[in-house]
Parts: sequence; C-alpha cells; structure tokens
Amino acid sequence: MESNNAAQCLGEATEPTNIVILGAGGDLTKRKLIPALLKMLRCGLLHADSKIIGVLKGRTQEQWLTGLHKGMQEYSPEIKLNDQQWQQFSSMFSMIEGDLQEERTYTDLAAAITSIQQHKNALFYCAVPPRWYTTIAAGLDKAGLSDQSEGFRRVVIEKPFGMDIDSARQLNNELQSLLDESQIYRIDHYLGKESVQNLLVYRFANSILEPLWNRNFIDHVQISAAESIGIEYRANYYEKSGALRDMIQSHLMQVMTLVAMEPPVEFTADAVRDEKIKVLRAVRPIKPESVSQQTVAAQYGSGTNAEEAIKAYVAEDDVSAESVTETLAGVRFHIDNWRWQGVPFILWTGKRLPQRVSEIVIRFRKPPFNLFDTHANPPTANSLVFRVHPDEGISLRMNAKMPGLTTDTQRMVMRAPYAENGEDVSDAYEVLLHDVLTGDATLFSRADEVEQSWSIIEPILNEWQHRISVNRYRAGTWEIPGMEDLFADCVGGWHKPS
Ligand SMILES: NC(=O)c1ccc[n+]([C@@H]2O[C@H](COP(=O)([O-])OP(=O)(O)OC[C@H]3O[C@@H](n4cnc5c(N)ncnc54)[C@H](OP(=O)(O)O)[C@@H]3O)[C@@H](O)[C@H]2O)c1
Repeated sequence: MESNNAAQCLGEATEPTNIVILGAGGDLTKRKLIPALLKMLRCGLLHADSKIIGVLKGRTQEQWLTGLHKGMQEYSPEIKLNDQQWQQFSSMFSMIEGDLQEERTYTDLAAAITSIQQHKNALFYCAVPPRWYTTIAAGLDKAGLSDQSEGFRRVVIEKPFGMDIDSARQLNNELQSLLDESQIYRIDHYLGKESVQNLLVYRFANSILEPLWNRNFIDHVQISAAESIGIEYRANYYEKSGALRDMIQSHLMQVMTLVAMEPPVEFTADAVRDEKIKVLRAVRPIKPESVSQQTVAAQYGSGTNAEEAIKAYVAEDDVSAESVTETLAGVRFHIDNWRWQGVPFILWTGKRLPQRVSEIVIRFRKPPFNLFDTHANPPTANSLVFRVHPDEGISLRMNAKMPGLTTDTQRMVMRAPYAENGEDVSDAYEVLLHDVLTGDATLFSRADEVEQSWSIIEPILNEWQHRISVNRYRAGTWEIPGMEDLFADCVGGWHKPS
C-alpha cells in the first residue's frame, strides 16, 4: 500500500491489528485518529494488513466515510491525499452500525473480528464521552472481545478519568473488574508530544544536567500551558470541569512527575511509572487554610486579541451568566523529598491569553554573591526553558557582558530547536497509537497515578466548590489577578511567555 512509496519512520514495526473505534462518528475520530493512522500507514508504522472498524449509530458506511474524508481535508490539509489515495486508504475501513448500550453491537463486532482470518489482535479506542467507558468494557467482556488467548486486546480511554477522587476510584474499579490493568491505556496526548518525551532524553542521556537538577541549584520550576483559544464547543464539559481539572490534574501534573522523578532503573513502562508515582506521593498535601495562598483562579472577561473582539466567558453559548468556573488556574506545589525540598513547582494554565505557549521553565538560584548587581542592568536569573509548543526546543538564558568598555550585562539566549523542520515532529496521536500497538504503556497513566493526582488536588476542589465569585482578567492580556503573588519569592518572578 502507500507505505511502499513513502519514507520509513523510525519506530518498532507493528503487528496487523483490528483498530476498532467506538464512537467513530465523532470529532476526535476525524480530527485526530484517522489522520494519525494514515500518517502511520504511509511511513510503515501501521501494518498494511490492519483493519479500521468504526462503531457508530445512525449512519451508513458511505455517509461515515464521506464525513471522514471531509474531516481530513478540513483539519489535516497538510496531508496531501488525492481521491485515488483516499479510496485505497478507505478500503481498510468497515463499519458496525449500533448503539453502545446494545449487546448486539458487540456480538456484531465479535463476528466481524472473527471473520478476519489473518489476525486477531484488537485495539478498542473509546472515542466517546467517559460515561460510556464502563458500558463498553462490559460489552466487550460479555462478547468475549477482551479475551487475549488469540491476540492482544487493548482498550484506550481518553481523559477525564473521573472528576474527583471518588469518581476516579469508581471508574478504575469498574474497569479493573472487566479488564486487566495492563489492557487499559489511559491516554494523555500531552505526554505524546515529542518535546515532552525529549525531556526524559535530555535528563537521562546527558550527564551535565543531573548535578544541577536539585534543590542546591534550582530555585523553582514553572510548568505552563497558555492558550489563546476559549472553550470552543466544550461549554457543557468545561462548566463542570474548569482549568484545574481540565489541565493541571492531568497534563501538567504528569509533566511535573517527569521533571521531578528519579532516574528509573530501566526504560520500561512500570519502571518509569514507579518513579512518577513516587513524586506524586511526595507532593505535600495542601491544607484547606493554605489553598488561597497556594492557588490562583480567574476567569476571562471580554477583551481583544490580535484585533479580534473576544466575548467574556460568561457570554459564551451554554455558559451560565453567573458562572464562577475558572478559565485560568495556578497551583504552587511542594515536593517533600531530598532532591526537591524547598523548591516550588508552580503549574498554571489559562484560556484566552495573548499566545498559545507551553513551557517548562527551570529557574536557577542567584549566584551566591553578585559582582555586577550595582550596574544599570543587573543580571537576570538563569533559566533552562523546554518549549513544548510552539517552536519545540530548549533554550538556556544566561548573562553576558555588553559589548564595549563596560561590564554591564545583557541577557543572552542560547536556543536549540528540537527539529529544524517541523514536519519531522510526530503528532501526539501518532506516537501514542504506535505505543498502544506495540504494547508500550510508558506514556499512559496507571490507575494509581490517576488516583494520587486527584487526591492531591482534592483539597483545592473542596475549597473552590464553595466560592461564590471569581477574579476576572481581560481576555488577550497577561494581567491576571494574583499571578505575580504566586511567584513572589521566586527568583525572577513569573515567566510570562514571549
Ligand atoms: N475532539 C477532540 O479533539 C478531542 C481531543 C482530546 C480528547 N477528546 C476526548 O475524546 C472523547 C470523544 O470526543 P469527541 O470530541 O470525539 O466527542 P463527540 O464528537 O461527541 O463524539 C462522540 C461520539 O460517540 C457517539 N456516541 C455517543 N453515545 C453513543 C451510543 N450510545 N452509541 C453509539 N455511539 C455513541 C456519538 O454519536 P452521535 O453523534 O450519534 O451521538 C459521537 O459520534 C471524549 O472523551 C473527549 O474528551 C476529544
């Protein structure tokens, strides 16, 4: 197939697999999953004998495929795909029409998989809202589809994995009663970003960082995800979630574990995840009376960005005019262990900010005695910045002498882009789908990590649920009430993306 005429990607070859997408008529499928599968096929990372089986209701196969084709053209225009190539690709597809609540849907699916003679591996991707996960797992179990005697059977679920500690535990218990934990892949697309994985390579494939990577040299760490977009079509979810649940509990806390963890004994899923959970266990519990000092919550009001008028969050469709849901959240964590005692980890995220930027900033301590402090331009704090998005790469901010007859200093930034050509960077869904197909769960959250991270933020959720008002910020600005205070004692203060 197409894999013959395209460059081969680096990566372990995958076995032929039935890729079953449950909820295949939805947004995630056309926006992310199908483009990722096509790119994988083109470069040989998806076995050409694989099948893609969509489970959806109320549409014919022709209608479904037409929708997918349009979605590819709309959301992935960079993938050049002529009609003949689409026909060829879509010949891998088949469809089961059915409701996820009905037993018949799963027996039809089992019959379809049984009819495929070449292989019996199956990946079940739950591209549906989380309330369906247990129903799907039960349907698969009853139809014998989770039985691994003839091939692997893996189930992928998307966050949110619960909305608090109790619902997360309940979901884990229900899934684990139907599937083995090793069959459950809790996807966090943020960890699929190459630059996040690159953090592990920078840390553990180089020897110059490790001596500095501790409380003796690092003043604090900032992990951020600033977005310029609003909530788009997700008001119903976002109103219940807010920025803390949506981004900090999942993506940003996962990144914190990668920054803070000890070197694993080997690069295997459980060895890495064992070290990550140790970090979460060492996070100091936030006392109810400390929540207001250790956190920031704010909501965007109206404003402008790049001359576009932006309406306030409370004026968005399906948002209550009285909503106090935070669209920006910041939390200051402390990790009580030998390496990180006294080093704040400040995680923050927000919507309708001036730019879409995601970074990990390692801010170093001041020199013990600064010879140049009296000069007109005092030296600035050293920072090592891992840019997750955009312009993935790493930069080191240092001080250098200004040219001329002076010892005044100026900031010097050494930049190392991760990939010169952005096209070399794989999309997170390609990386993670490949990992599921090869059975590598390193970048997927284990049940204990999910529960631990919910229990860490539980005191914040408890305090915030009683609030009757929330601070506002003007959309399109960095003027966020309380943010500077969160960094008040940090060398160099808040690193606003630029
Ligand atoms: N969209 C993204 O870019 C994105 C990114 C990251 C994570 N996610 C996560 O991915 C999951 C899916 O998101 P999505 O945006 O694709 O949602 P979506 O557009 O609402 O799609 C969900 C699909 O599930 C189908 N479905 C719901 N109930 C069903 C039932 N009883 N039987 C059969 N099909 C049923 C829906 O069919 P009908 O249309 O017929 O109701 C719909 O096609 C969510 O957990 C979301 O949080 C999405």
